[in-house]
Order: sequence, then C-alpha cells, then structure tokens
Amino acid sequence: MSSKLDLSKEFIGRRALVTGGTRGIGAAIAKRLLDAGAKVVVAARSRSDFTPAAATFIDGDVSTSEGVKAIAAEALAVLGGLDILVNNAGGAGGTRMFPEGSPTIPDEEWQDAIDLNLFASIRLTNALLPTLRASKAAAVVNISSTAATMPFAPTAHYGVAKAALDFYSRTLAVELAPSGVRVNVVSPGPISTPSADEMRKSFPGISSDEWLRYVPLGRIGTTDDITEVVALLASDRGKWLTGMNYRVDGGMTAR
Ligand SMILES: NC(=O)c1ccc[n+]([C@@H]2O[C@H](COP(=O)([O-])OP(=O)(O)OC[C@H]3O[C@@H](n4cnc5c(N)ncnc54)[C@H](OP(=O)(O)O)[C@@H]3O)[C@@H](O)[C@H]2O)c1
Repeated sequence: MSSKLDLSKEFIGRRALVTGGTRGIGAAIAKRLLDAGAKVVVAARSRSDFTPAAATFIDGDVSTSEGVKAIAAEALAVLGGLDILVNNAGGAGGTRMFPEGSPTIPDEEWQDAIDLNLFASIRLTNALLPTLRASKAAAVVNISSTAATMPFAPTAHYGVAKAALDFYSRTLAVELAPSGVRVNVVSPGPISTPSADEMRKSFPGISSDEWLRYVPLGRIGTTDDITEVVALLASDRGKWLTGMNYRVDGGMTAR
C-alpha cells in the first residue's frame, strides 16, 4: 500500500448527509466531501446561492420529528445507504439573544433551541442508525459550539442545548463503538458565515472588533478551518477517533 494519501479521492464511494448544508459551514462541509468524491445530500428549509450545485437538496425541517423522518427517508432513497452523517443545522445566526439574562428567555425559546440544536441530531441519528450500522465506514459528526463550554447568559438556551449535544455524542460514541459507528463533535469558535457575521454585529457587550481579543490566533475562523477537521473525522484517517470533541476555535477555549 502506498504511504501517500490522496485526499482528493478519499470519499469516493461514500454517501453523506449534511443537515444545514445549503449555506455557511454546512455548505462548505458538503463541498469538501463532494470535492473528494462523496455523493452528498444536503437538507434544509431552503436552498441558497451557496448550496453546492453537485449536492442533492432535500427540503425539510430538522427541528420536528416529522421533518426528520421525511429527510431520513428521502436521503436514503437518493443515496441508497449512508456512511457519513453531519448534523450541522443549528442556530448560530438564528438564535435570539436575551441581553437581560437567562431568566428572561421564554420557555418556547428554550424548547426551540433544544429541538434544533439537540433533538434534531438525536432524532436523525436514530432514524438512520440501521443504515449507519450497515456501513463499513460509518461516521457521525455533530457540530456544536464553543458556546457549550463558555457560559454566556444572553444565549444560555443555545449553549445549554449544545452542551447536551456534546454529552449525548460522547454517550452515543461509547454505545456504538462495538458496531463500528464512530461519533465525534466539532465545536467551532467564531467562524465567518453571513448569518454569524450578522449576529456578531449585535452581540450584547462585544463589538465586532473585540471578538479578536478572545481568539489567541488573532483572527475569525473560516469555514475551511472547520471542514478540514470534519473531513479528518469522516474519513478513514480518523478510523481510531471516536467520542471526542474537537474545538476548532483559534485557541479561544484554551485559556
Ligand atoms: N458560524 C459560527 O460562528 C458558529 C460558531 C459556533 C457554532 N456554529 C454552529 O455551526 C453550525 C452552522 O452554523 P452557520 O454559521 O453555518 O449557520 P448558518 O449560516 O445560519 O446556516 C445554518 C444552516 O442550517 C439550516 N437550518 C437552520 N434551521 C434549520 C431547520 N430547522 N431545519 C433544517 N435546516 C435548518 C439553514 O437553512 P434554512 O434556514 O434554509 O433551513 C442553513 O443551511 C450550527 O450548528 C451553529 O450552531 C457556528
């Protein structure tokens, strides 16, 4: 066997579903997988100009149980099986902020954050588990956030939902390890996407420029910073990696 890895072909024959793959980080992940040969389905409530043309788009809402069932069924119909599941849809820009603190977050907002950032991954993984177990190279990558480890009251509902996603993922990784299904988390720090850039403009107490003070490597992240780690975890290069949380944040949570 050659010792050289050809990363441009490593996903040939792999079938992938990326939720929220129509824009932002999800679109970049979908493109990274496509570029290396994967067949990719992206699921979201709408297509965008950033949706990779080579991906198959499924219109669906991951925050409801009916939406998840329909997405899972349609993805399997298109792909005929599944090797890579990236649970990426979540609220970066879509999360409402409550500058007056967590006691002012209404119950419905807590529920919405949990449905989108936690339950979507649980439901979709459960729906696709028989297929993932049948794959010889099954990898689940859940996209969390540094918000899960850095308490911030105005978005407590989001941070709490992502923290629960992290622990769920660890639990699942141990549970599924005997069947060969690997489960890992990638936790982005501030990444430049249109919706997150917009959100950071109105972040309570931190101006857009001040974000850099929190990032030791001195820049806002790019979607490429995330896609490379997701590709590693989804590929055979990551075949002994499971149950881990990779914080891709320029050192933000290292302090
Ligand atoms: N960007 C950052 O700085 C950052 C930092 C930490 C963590 N993250 C995490 O990274 C992930 C992606 O963030 P992003 O900045 O790329 O977000 P984004 O640009 O707002 O994209 C979100 C994607 O998810 C889809 N989506 C949202 N709600 C959905 C729903 N109910 N059902 C189906 N699809 C849904 C969106 O499409 P539709 O709206 O058309 O459905 C879109 O494709 C999220 O989980 C976020 O929490 C991002």
